[in-house]
Amino acid sequence: MDLVIATRNNGKLREIKAMLKGTRIRVLSLDDFPGCPEVVEDKETFRENALKKARAVAEYTGKIALADDSGLSVDALGGAPGVYSARFSGPGADDLKNNRKLLRMMKDVPDERRGAQFVCVMALVGRGQSTGFGTEKTVKGIVRGRITREMRGPRGFGYDPLFYYSPKGMTFAQMGPEEKNRVSHRARALAKIKDIINKMQLPHSWGRS
Ligand code: IMP
Repeated sequence: MDLVIATRNNGKLREIKAMLKGTRIRVLSLDDFPGCPEVVEDKETFRENALKKARAVAEYTGKIALADDSGLSVDALGGAPGVYSARFSGPGADDLKNNRKLLRMMKDVPDERRGAQFVCVMALVGRGQSTGFGTEKTVKGIVRGRITREMRGPRGFGYDPLFYYSPKGMTFAQMGPEEKNRVSHRARALAKIKDIINKMQLPHSWGRS
């Protein structure tokens, strides 16, 4: 089956592609649909943003779309940056600026209050007629960790250098991509999506993942 990943975030796309490798799902990206309009993420929940992105891409492409809206929720900041993770440091935000801002805000927070979680909500949307899947599903994946006091590790993207995952004793940016993809919020959400796809009544031509 064809699945269009509704994201322009290369970090997310790379991980989702890696996790779907070896299945019978053919992953397409927005690069395959250059005219696909940009979706403004202006909703207040991960779920609403994910649904908005997946609906727009399913509508435009006529294919089943999978969108991921995700972010970091820090306990000591009342869940911030949350849905604003990508834009945390304001206009012109990038990963480095976001990480620096988070470090500044967490400067005086003691070790025992540095808990945080990555949250990923995925929306799977099909528009019926051509796909045989006329429905919408959303799932959530969460992974708990702690915010470090400095950036550690060169890998991953976003807040990975600040997210310490204690079962491995390192940050997500210090873990290899396969290791991160086994335990991440995105992996946990995607496992549920694969389950949904496997249980769906699909036209025979789709096959199974
Ligand atoms: P979105 O495109 O609105 O879903 O933004 C997601 C943002 O959350 C990214 O730009 C990152 O800042 C952050 N984020 C989401 N998932 C991850 C991850 O796996 N590692 C690090 N940062 C992440």
